Amino acid sequence: MIKIIEHIPTAEEYNKVSLNVGWGVRPDEIVTLALQNTLISVCAYDDGELVGYGRIIGDGATFLYVQDVMVKKEYQSQKIGTGIIKKLLECMEKYWKINPSIRLYLGAALGKEDFYKLFGFVVREEAGLGPGMIYRKK
Ligand SMILES: CC(C)(COP(=O)(O)OP(=O)(O)OC[C@H]1O[C@@H](n2cnc3c(N)ncnc32)[C@H](O)[C@@H]1OP(=O)(O)O)[C@@H](O)C(=O)NCCC(=O)NCCS
Repeated sequence: MIKIIEHIPTAEEYNKVSLNVGWGVRPDEIVTLALQNTLISVCAYDDGELVGYGRIIGDGATFLYVQDVMVKKEYQSQKIGTGIIKKLLECMEKYWKINPSIRLYLGAALGKEDFYKLFGFVVREEAGLGPGMIYRKK
């Protein structure tokens, strides 16, 4: 039975899932700091094992970002990703109460746009906005 809860995982738990989906690992102290600075952290647990994760970061009032949505390979296609996004959106309610026009952004990995479209996300082009950009430090 998979449990989807708002909870901050340990760096070790996070890195295990990240490694499993091919995103590698970051030093524990970096991950711990990042997770502490996160607004909404959602974990999917199978009998105490972290099998999926997603989080929302941002200023809590105007601009928020969905990050790190990941489900372990052997647990994919079982609606766990769906459960994580739904829980993240449920947890967003308190921020929409503060500011109903808060912007919730998302940088989808290549080919993952259709997954997010299921939950109401649109590609920026469809919203009449320019493409998302990223800073590449030299
Ligand atoms: C993307 C990911 C989070 C989806 O999680 P999941 O638990 O496998 O997804 P679900 O079982 O909830 O799938 C829900 C729906 O999304 C669809 N879907 C899943 N992955 C998809 C993809 N890559 N592209 C398009 N649709 C996708 C499924 O077909 C399913 O549709 P259905 O309801 O019609 O059957 C997961 O595959 C993953 O962790 N991938 C590796 C990490 C990654 O790339 N994350 C996205 C970062 S932006």
